[in-house]
This record gives sequence, C-alpha cells and structure tokens, in this order.
Amino acid sequence: MSLVPQTATLVEKRYLDPQHSLFRFVFDDEGVRESFSFSPGQFVMLSIFGVGEAPISITSGPDEKGFVELCVRQAGRVTGALHALEENATVGLRGPYGNGYPVDVMEGGNLLIVAGGLGIAPLRSLIRYVLYRRDRFREVGIGYGARNPESVLFSGEMQNLVARTDIKCILSVDSVPEACRWDGHVGRVTEIIDRINMPIEGTSVAVCGPPVFYKFVLEKLLSLGYSKGSIYMSLERRMECGLGKCGHCVVGHKYTCIEGPIFTYWDAINLPEIF
Ligand SMILES: Cc1cc2nc3c(=O)[nH]c(=O)nc-3n(C[C@H](O)[C@H](O)[C@H](O)COP(=O)(O)OP(=O)(O)OC[C@H]3O[C@@H](n4cnc5c(N)ncnc54)[C@H](O)[C@@H]3O)c2cc1C
Ligand code: FES
Repeated sequence: MSLVPQTATLVEKRYLDPQHSLFRFVFDDEGVRESFSFSPGQFVMLSIFGVGEAPISITSGPDEKGFVELCVRQAGRVTGALHALEENATVGLRGPYGNGYPVDVMEGGNLLIVAGGLGIAPLRSLIRYVLYRRDRFREVGIGYGARNPESVLFSGEMQNLVARTDIKCILSVDSVPEACRWDGHVGRVTEIIDRINMPIEGTSVAVCGPPVFYKFVLEKLLSLGYSKGSIYMSLERRMECGLGKCGHCVVGHKYTCIEGPIFTYWDAINLPEIF
C-alpha cells in the first residue's frame, strides 16, 4: 500500500456525543471504492489536507462495501479539523494498515468482546464481522462500559445487541445522572464480565478501551482464568507512516503499525514500557 492518500468524500457525519462523531466516507475513485477491503481492527491514515494525518480505526464492518466509517474523538489538530468539516468535504485516506484481529483463530470458538468508551470503534467492526457470519462462532458475549448513559456511543445499535437472543450483550455505566433513564448495569465494566459468564476454555477475548480500563479488565480476565495468549488488546502508539518506514511506533523490537495494533496480552507484557 502506497504512502499516497486516496481522496474520499465525506458523505455523512453523525453526531454521537459532544466529543465523538461518526464519519462515513466514499472513495472518489471507483476502482479504489470497489477494491478496498480490510480486516476488523485495521486502521487508516486520515489526512485533512493542509493540516496533517492521524491513524484512525475502521469502525464499519468489512462486509459493508462502498464506504468506510470512522468514529472519531475531537482530540487535537487533525481530529478537530475533521469535526469542523461539512458533508461533501474531501479528505485523504490511505491504508488499510495493521494486523487486525485474528478472526481465523477466533472462528470456531467462543468470543468475548469487552469495550470501554471509544474502544468500541475497532470492536464495532469486529462485532459486525461476527454478526455477518454468526454461525461460525459458538457463544458470543459483549460487554460495553461508558461513563454515563449519554456517553454510550452507538447507543441505538448497542440496545439492539442487548435485545438479540443469539449473543449476550450487557451495557454498563459508571453512574446515572438524575432524570436519565437507564436499563443497563450501573457499576464497573468488570462486573458485567461476571454477568456475561462466558466459558473460559475455548474463548478468545478482544479488549479495547482507555489505559485505566485495561488495568482493571485485564486483572479481572486473568483472575477468571483466561490465558494471556487468548486475550487480544489494541496498542495505540503515535504513528507517522503507518507502514513500517519511520520508526515512530516502535516499542521494543515491534513495529506497532505492522505487527499491531492488535497484540495478545502475552506479547504485550513482553514489550518494554507497556505497563
Ligand atoms: C492504531 C490507532 C487507531 C486509532 N483509532 C482511533 C479511532 O478510531 N478514533 C479516534 O478518535 N482516535 C483514534 N486513534 C487516536 C488518534 O490517532 C490520536 O488521538 C491522534 O493523535 C489524533 O490526532 P490529532 O492531530 O487530532 O491530535 P493531536 O494534535 O495529535 O493531539 C491528540 C492528543 O495528543 C496530545 N499530544 C499531541 N502531541 C503530543 C506529543 N508529542 N506527546 C504527547 N502527547 C501529545 C495532545 O495534547 C492531545 O491530547 C487511533 C490511534 C492509533 C495509533
Ligand atoms: S508508524 Fe512509521 S514505522 Fe510505524
């Protein structure tokens, strides 16, 4: 994949909460539009021309053709400029980059997905992958934690997952402000891992969230008996090129843009400066 971005048009911008929006892009070149394919967990480098580039996970499902969706927090220069764009604006996208989740390893077994906050972005792509071929997985559990009901990203979609009978999805918030309606769990996301109650044997676990979330969720998963090799986490490091040329993302001896961003917990703890 080249370093040259392909132009794409912003066709839809959906407000999710004051910090996050969902952006749908269509590649301008018909050939690119039709041939673009990716695995859940991969990312693109998003360019806002004249401003800069940032790595962003693809949040749409790999089976949804013709467009790419990104769920983006307004964090700094590039993401701030993206949030300021109106529909029909042109951006640059290059990729997909990174390894993605090992879906070939996960298929045939049980899958537990645990997300915190914006960590749902790459996991939404994995969830869509699983739902498209539900029969290839045995038990599927999803736990999603947010600070409060208003910060649950994709709340309509998440409620639809809760209502399904072929997966066990539980949503959790840290607290519920007065006058706010909430039917899910109130408490730590670690508590819903107990309630989802997935088998330990034969289960892969995909985890993505902020650093403090990892600390508690990983401790919980290990205490339940999940092996370090069965837990997949996303390591987000500062990236420039996205394809193994610049060295900005190197941790220890690993290029997180190529060998990551998805690592098993076992591989991650053997990298320096991770925890
Ligand atoms: C693989 C991968 C996938 C990602 N997926 C997503 C996604 O799906 N959605 C999403 O919203 N974000 C995602 N990110 C994070 C996103 O790339 C970063 O937040 C990126 O920095 C945003 O660029 P920016 O120019 O808007 O912000 P920046 O201007 O880079 O600022 C972002 C934050 O970093 C701080 N910062 C800036 N420079 C430095 C520095 N030199 N040292 C330390 N801190 C600094 C700023 O103060 C600010 O808090 C992903 C990152 C990676 C690596
Ligand atoms: S981001 Fe340049 S080598 Fe990984």
